[in-house]
Amino acid sequence: MKATAQAHSNIAFIKYWGKKEGFDSLKLPANGSISMNLSNLVTETTVEFSERYSVDKLDFNGTENNDNIRSKVSEHLDRVRKKAGVTTKAKVVSRNNFPHSSGLSSSASGFAALTVAAVSALELQLNEKELSLLARQGSGSACRSIPTGFVEWVAGRSHDSSYAYSIFPPDHWDLIDVVVVIDAQAKELSSTEGMSRAFKSPFYKERLKNIQEKIHTCTEAIRKKDFEIFGELIESEALEMHSIAFTSHPPMIYWAPETLRLMLETQRWRKAGLPVYFTINTGHDIHLITTPDHEKKLVSLIHKSCTVKKIIMNHPSEGACITKNHLF
Ligand code: PMV
Repeated sequence: MKATAQAHSNIAFIKYWGKKEGFDSLKLPANGSISMNLSNLVTETTVEFSERYSVDKLDFNGTENNDNIRSKVSEHLDRVRKKAGVTTKAKVVSRNNFPHSSGLSSSASGFAALTVAAVSALELQLNEKELSLLARQGSGSACRSIPTGFVEWVAGRSHDSSYAYSIFPPDHWDLIDVVVVIDAQAKELSSTEGMSRAFKSPFYKERLKNIQEKIHTCTEAIRKKDFEIFGELIESEALEMHSIAFTSHPPMIYWAPETLRLMLETQRWRKAGLPVYFTINTGHDIHLITTPDHEKKLVSLIHKSCTVKKIIMNHPSEGACITKNHLF
């Protein structure tokens, strides 16, 4: 009744921003999205179901006291328990190798790893689509950390049709994602809060009108490995998502001064001939995307231009899987 899984966080190139009206708890997105799994942002989770536990016990990166996380994890375990027809409580130990709640999507890798470990511990036989549907209910973007490599999450119209699948394997295109950790402090505004205000932006409807076309262009740019079309698209997409946040009520700014500085530097470096584009989720940390030939130069420029807490280099990576290294 014990299993361990590992999952990678993912970076959205076309973002999930806003839920379908009336489907908040199911986490049905208003639009589809495209992402890539990140090799060096990893969550490992061990789940053990046992009659020895009278309540669910959670150890999340060495802390046991976060009520919000504890109740979300318990609710997710309930979904898996319901499928298996059991009520047995569980112990969950989970470790991230990167900061959480600073915009690096730890909830994506976290809920993907939890889903795969819990399903395996209860010996349920679920296919990849079913795992993705389940992970989505824990945290929307977690559904994209289940399949391998480059991934599309189809928005769908019901629980059963909103899941992610792999569009290209990790070795299709060796993109480099340089994650720049600016500040390891947790963000003050959650994505959930941001999304609940998204429809209040006057630009939100306009965004939804064009999103399918963007998904198509993004997929084709990845297929053809056209870095320029791809890069321009993802940078403007990130700014579009943040423009919705800026113009929601009340307005939201997720960036720190160093975030903006790196955005401007990225555009300057590009003008000077370095192929690099940025994208960013809801937090101050930023992702700079380049190709392997330019990785070293980019890292040295980042160090020269600002003080950063940490740089994490990523390649496209596999989806969630079972491992043998139990955490307890
Ligand atoms: O899955 P959530 O609730 O953590 O929301 C993710 C939202 C963004 O990271 C901003 C965009 C995305 O598609 O990952």
